[in-house]
Amino acid sequence: MDFTTFLLEYTPFIASGLLTTLEISLLSFSIGLVLGAFMLSLSLSPLRPVARAYVEPIRGTPLLVQLFVLYFGLPSIGVKLDAFTASVLALGLNSGAYQAEIFRSAVKGIPDSQILAAESLGFSGSQVFRYVILPQALRISIPSLVNEFVTVVKESSLAAVIGIVELTRRGQYVAAYTYRAFEAYIIVAVLYFAVCYAFSHASRILEKKLRIPGYT
Ligand code: ARG
Repeated sequence: MDFTTFLLEYTPFIASGLLTTLEISLLSFSIGLVLGAFMLSLSLSPLRPVARAYVEPIRGTPLLVQLFVLYFGLPSIGVKLDAFTASVLALGLNSGAYQAEIFRSAVKGIPDSQILAAESLGFSGSQVFRYVILPQALRISIPSLVNEFVTVVKESSLAAVIGIVELTRRGQYVAAYTYRAFEAYIIVAVLYFAVCYAFSHASRILEKKLRIPGYT
């Protein structure tokens, strides 16, 4: 079978894995968004050590190991998660730590002078946060959040390791069935690239559009 015939024959089967890939990615990213925002609020409060205790271990250990802890480790202490839940949770918890850092550095990037100015106009602490810090921090975070989503899409391929039939796993099936691993994984790679490139490109455009004058 030549490459074109192979493409026509197997691309639809592999490509339908994109649905599962995107489903896992969207769910995990959303969990990460909520966690990240929550960790930001902790890290701006006296409970900051709690936020650090979450963010540092997550960022300092491989995602694959975190996935194994949830999927293979938890059952031995009586918590059994199915593969899909374990994947979404592992990715979501992981992304939450990175998103917390995205938000934290966005908030840190707002100059003190603005906060002082707002306070001198009589804004209370929570008003400063709501009207001065938050709107700008969100805007600064958006391109990094899009990049984080791209990372989550790529990292979701780890779910294949515990048997989730997403894009990568479908590639594995085709490779095993046809013995044409090169072609199969090239198709998988091209599909990831198409999605990730589209998002990275959008993120670059957003970055230009959302740039706040006077910030780096
Ligand atoms: N490959 C990295 C690891 O094994 C995962 C990084 C996840 N990064 C992220 N921005 N969510 O630790």
